[in-house]
Parts: sequence; structure tokens; C-alpha cells
Amino acid sequence: MVLSTERELQTAVAAARAAGRPVALVPTMGALHAGHLSLIQAAVAKAHENRPFVVVSVFVNPTQFAPGEDFQSYPRDPAGDHAAASAAGADVVFQPTVTEIYPLDRKLPTFPLPAVATRWEGELRPGHFAGVCQVVARLFQMSDADRAYFGEKDYQQLQVVRAMVRDSLHDAVRVIGCPTVREPDGLALSSRNRYLSADERRRATAISAALQWACGRVDADVCDAAILQSGVRTQLESAGMTVDYAAVVEAGTLEPLGRIGDVPARLLVAARLGTTRLIDNCALVAPTVRSQQDTAQ
Ligand code: PAJ
Repeated sequence: MVLSTERELQTAVAAARAAGRPVALVPTMGALHAGHLSLIQAAVAKAHENRPFVVVSVFVNPTQFAPGEDFQSYPRDPAGDHAAASAAGADVVFQPTVTEIYPLDRKLPTFPLPAVATRWEGELRPGHFAGVCQVVARLFQMSDADRAYFGEKDYQQLQVVRAMVRDSLHDAVRVIGCPTVREPDGLALSSRNRYLSADERRRATAISAALQWACGRVDADVCDAAILQSGVRTQLESAGMTVDYAAVVEAGTLEPLGRIGDVPARLLVAARLGTTRLIDNCALVAPTVRSQQDTAQ
């Protein structure tokens, strides 16, 4: 079922709730690929309770694109998205207009931007996370979701949404992070991968290869962040990329870490290949922590 107005969505959600179904939201900007579909599948697959009512939103949110970014050219395929989301188990595909999301005659809630939004993407894409928070909060409001699914592919976005829900929405929505889906050669699926030329597509695998290299170094007890960062940077530059950042950070706050140790760590990478900007990340687990985890299992 495709819906496009808040009223239609609220009617459908109320009917599902009356039938005892929890509401799960998967926010997307469309051009759905297997990464998006994995979130829908995770939302559908909930054991031990009534089947969730799964709402997939498809909305290319203008407020999260900075001037000069690809808002106009962002891939749009409403019919394909509807078919793919429904096949993956979505109950509703919500495809609103800009004025439905941002009605001119209503004041919408605003929130302070969480601190975790400041660095990395926040620094390089001013206004981006304010736009993401604005639309996500609005989608939460419209769908009355109990839980919402986000990909670890956009790791900082996931942490920003978690922080917004914790600090400003009184934990009204449970935010669930899902693993990054990759091509067989390691490239993280992204709607923007279609911008890559054949040559760039081949070189883009350097990102996941560099992340894997870093995990391998950490397994070999190389836990110094500077060594890992410069190794990743060199590999990406050798593949012809311009590196925006390659940073070892604390996994929750995204503050830089000097060493991989007991606290959960993440390696965040953003690089440009021609006119396309790619981001990726992975967990870094120190061997001592990994062996404790293995013993605990
Ligand atoms: P979009 O880029 O369409 O992504 C929608 C969701 O799919 C996000 O949670 C993203 O992290 C997840 N996703 C994308 N590629 C993935 C992959 N390869 N594996 C797993 N999950 C993946 O992110 C946005 O849209 C927007 O900012 C949005 C949250 C919808 C707000 O407008």
C-alpha cells in the first residue's frame, strides 16, 4: 500500500494498533537497494509478538542537502521502491510530498543538535544532521513508531539519531542499528554508487580493503590510532581518492581515540572519488577484548 499524506498514514497506523501490532519505521530516501531491504527484513522479522506493522518512508529530504550537493540529481524511482519494499515485507510505503512533511501552517518541533553531530560529517556537511534530525523526528511523529531501523553504514547518523531520541524524545522510539550490507567485493551498498564510472567502481573497493587491513592490524595487536589512520589514508590515496577523514573514534561519542583498548572503537572513513563521496566504517576490537568476548560466549 502506498500512502502519501499524514492523515492516511495515521489512519493506517491506528488500524494496525487496534489489531495489536507494534509499529516499525524504516526511513529511507529511496532508490532502494539490498542495504535498505535488509532493514525492512529486520523490521518484519520479530519473533514472540504480533507481527509489526512496517512503514517504509521514501522521501528525499531537501533540508539535509547543503547547497551544491546532489539533491536535484539524487536517484528517484518511486515505482521501483514500492515494488521492492512490498516484496521485502513492508505494509506501507509512505511517499510524502515536501509540504506534507513540512507543512507551512504548523510549527514543527525543533531540537538541539546532539554533540555527536559536531565532528566528521557534521563538520564537512554543515546543516546536514540538523536536516536529518528534523526529518527523522517528523517521521517519528507522523508514524507514531515504536521502533525504527537505521543502517550502520551511516554510523554517525545512527549515533546522532540515538542521541536525539535519548536527549529530546524521552526514548519514545527504540532505535535499532543494522549491519552494513556489502557487494561481494566489499563495497558498501549505497544509492550513490551508481554515480561511479567503471574505473572508479573498481578503485572504490580500496575503502573496504583498507578497513579490513585495519582490523587485521588490530588483530595483530597494532592498536595505535595514528598508525592505523595513516595506513588507511595511504591506501585510499594510492587508489586515487581524496580522503576527507580516516579516524579511530570511541564508538558512542565518536570522539577521537589514541589507542584501541577496552572501550568500543570504530574506524570512520570518508573519501572522494571523482565527484562521488563515499563513507564507510567498521568496528575495531582489541585482541584482549575479543578473547574476553570469545570466552564469554
Ligand atoms: P538513505 O541513504 O536512503 O538510507 C536509508 C537507511 O538505509 C539508513 O539508515 C542507511 O544507513 C541505511 N543503509 C544505506 N546503505 C546501507 C547498507 N549498505 N547497509 C545497511 N544499511 C544501509 O540515510 C538516509 O537515507 C537519510 O539520511 C534518512 C535517515 C532517510 C533521513 O532522510
